[in-house]
Amino acid sequence: DQFKRLNVIVIGAGYVGLCTGIVMAHIGHSVLCIDINTDKIALLEQGMAPIYEINLEAMLAGCRNNLSFTTELPKRLGDTDIVIIAVGTPSKENGDADMQYVDQVIIDITSKIEEAQDLIIVMKSTVPIGSNQEMFRRVNNLLSDRGVQANVNFVSNPEFLREGKAIYDSFYPDRIVVGGNNDSAIGAVKNMYYPLLNKTFIMPQYMDQNFESSLPSLVVTDFLTAEMIKYASNAFLATKVSFINEIAGLCDKVGADILDVSIGMGLDNRIGKGFLHAGLGWGGSCFPKDTLALQSIAREYDYEMPIIEAARTINTRQIIFVLRKIQGLLKVIRGKKIAVLGLSYKPGTDDIRDSVSVEIVKRIVRLGGSVSVYDPVALDNARKELASDSVNFCSSIICAIESADAVLIATEWQEFLEVDWREVKLKMRSPIIIDGRNLLHKKILSEMGFTYVGVGR
Ligand code: NAD
Ligand code: UGA
Repeated sequence: DQFKRLNVIVIGAGYVGLCTGIVMAHIGHSVLCIDINTDKIALLEQGMAPIYEINLEAMLAGCRNNLSFTTELPKRLGDTDIVIIAVGTPSKENGDADMQYVDQVIIDITSKIEEAQDLIIVMKSTVPIGSNQEMFRRVNNLLSDRGVQANVNFVSNPEFLREGKAIYDSFYPDRIVVGGNNDSAIGAVKNMYYPLLNKTFIMPQYMDQNFESSLPSLVVTDFLTAEMIKYASNAFLATKVSFINEIAGLCDKVGADILDVSIGMGLDNRIGKGFLHAGLGWGGSCFPKDTLALQSIAREYDYEMPIIEAARTINTRQIIFVLRKIQGLLKVIRGKKIAVLGLSYKPGTDDIRDSVSVEIVKRIVRLGGSVSVYDPVALDNARKELASDSVNFCSSIICAIESADAVLIATEWQEFLEVDWREVKLKMRSPIIIDGRNLLHKKILSEMGFTYVGVGR
């Protein structure tokens, strides 16, 4: 095992594809990143990031020698060693993962495979269990229809990065999972990751150097298991958050403090401290769609998954609980002005896909309230989604809270912790804070004269 420079194509330049492309280029592979979105590619060619993600533009600039962008697959794939697929797999109406983008990519790639070519297709998109096996068969059938003899293999290589820490996670993953049915293809993908698995690459100074993480673990398995690891991981994390939110609801009733409960529980290594932060619930482009897709897969086998069902129910209920808190404090929402701070589904990203915050703004508007929204980076993305006479887009916290009857913290951006809350109080009509992410210091704000309501504290 040692490093060998490969020709890699990454298809899809979204969160996963772009970060993967950057990592592969940074560790020395020659990478071509392809996306059908011409605006995205135009930005990337100028060295600009189409998404907000810390260190992304700097890393992009640092690896341009090995990384190029285009909107179409090259005419010939003969020189390509590995194609990584990272296009989206959103939810269909019925909850299934929508495979249309992946299917299209498979057709495109297969039409370009050449006689006697060796090619490995690495599936990074989150795809339903059974997909890799099925696609492997489909590609080989398409090739024999074309009369082309080639050695094409699939490797399932699910991605575990988090938005907001996408670059960091891409370089320092906890584990690399490779699933397949061909040892030499699995070996080639292991070699592609050689610098990550052995930490032989050098990071630029501006990246967090305080990582003492151990080397990533490698999990080698079959297609079905690799696909299951991805869905099971997301479903577990979503369930963990729903669990702590369920406990937070009871904390509200009995008067216990969920922050200390989470600390007290998390100190048990078997439980672990991560994903015990109670709040408005989970959103984003993955937990909602992946839990739905897993349930869809189970349904195909007539198998029930009550834990995942409950995790989803609790997550939906959480929004209602918080709305009730607002209603309880304001008596009636109609005619009131509520400032909502944070629109992205979590801090560190401008992604508003399935953002709980965006959903809450819509509900407040439906209940007759008016909303002033502020977010440090996601405002533009939310403009279309929230376009309404009742929603006022503000470019600062102070503008948003001006004569508000209450303020709701919907995303835990650091900026909301650092604002001068004394100044905020002077500008509000009534000093009410609903801290949907348990971000602020309850005691300090109460002492300032705020009515402070958190989630489970
Ligand atoms: P995304 O929506 O940000 O990006 C997908 C990109 O694919 C888009 O830019 C789109 O234009 C492009 N695309 C679609 N069809 C194409 C085609 N035929 N050729 C070239 N490009 C095409 O998606 P994402 O968030 O990066 O997610 C990609 C996959 O990775 C999904 O399956 C998702 O579940 C999974 N995943 C996402 C994350 C995450 O945090 N976002 C983490 C782990 C796994
Ligand atoms: C999640 C997983 O963490 C990644 O490992 C995975 O790769 C990714 O989904 C995916 O498959 O796309 P992401 O959605 O980017 O990543 O963000 P998370 O940090 O997991 O947060 C998800 C949601 O849970 C957010 O809305 C967040 O606010 C919420 N959350 C998270 C809580 O409410 N409490 C917590 O303690 C943790």
